[in-house]
Amino acid sequence: MKEKLPKTPGPIGVFDSGYGGLTILGNIRLALPDYDYIYLGDNARTPYGTRSFEIVYEFTLQAVNKLFEIGCHLVILACNTASAKALRTIQINDLPVIDPERRVLGVIRPTVECIGHITRSRHVGVLATSGTIKSESYPMEIRKLFPDIEVHGQACPMWVPLVENNEAHGLGTDYFVQKDLDNLLYKDRKIDTIILGCTHYPLLLNKIKRFAPEGITIVSQGEYVAESLKDYLHRHPEMDEKCAKNGITRYYTTESEDKFRESASIFLNEKIIAQHIAVE
Ligand code: DGL
Repeated sequence: MKEKLPKTPGPIGVFDSGYGGLTILGNIRLALPDYDYIYLGDNARTPYGTRSFEIVYEFTLQAVNKLFEIGCHLVILACNTASAKALRTIQINDLPVIDPERRVLGVIRPTVECIGHITRSRHVGVLATSGTIKSESYPMEIRKLFPDIEVHGQACPMWVPLVENNEAHGLGTDYFVQKDLDNLLYKDRKIDTIILGCTHYPLLLNKIKRFAPEGITIVSQGEYVAESLKDYLHRHPEMDEKCAKNGITRYYTTESEDKFRESASIFLNEKIIAQHIAVE
């Protein structure tokens, strides 16, 4: 496999199950504007949040291989569900076979790293897709770094479809945001910090802040992921050298190009032209 992969410097790959990773890409580009990026959205097979471990792993590995084939040396899994269900297996089992010098990073670890300095009560809540909550990835990562922090999670299965249907500001959305927040806080009244562990949730930030009791800090992960990537490239000059720097971003979707163009602007406030790509 390694012999066939391009060796010249290439873009940083940003992968998501659909559009949500565009929120992460937006933050990454603000922090690292000179780099080249390829965004790949697996829109034809989204959502991942309700899928099994095996399927999320299989789809994510296919996407990572595609991004390597088209020139990326470093891939960020911007999707929390893919980071929760596929990242470790890809890092441990697949990368040594594909190419030990290429790297895949996720969004959970960089988000968790900031938590220790934010929570005072040491009680943290996580809002995410059913898949991410069931994987227990957030509590496991938090316990590794901060064993004194108690973590409770709440799945919010309606939030992704609401955002994708352009209902982020809709009145009906209030009901679901309030209900899921109440459910989380009912599990632990001492929670003072809530992680938004899904790419789509920053688009609901205003509503979440409106319904969260005063004094609770809401952590939106984009900027932490971007800062962590910046730090990673600083600490790994051998990888930084392999990242092309012309300030160019290309977009690929496994769905139709027209459909991507229509919906992508909900997530990134600019006109986006994507090319179709087959991933299998
Ligand atoms: N990108 C996914 C995540 O961050 C949400 C959308 C999906 O379920 O595929 O978990």
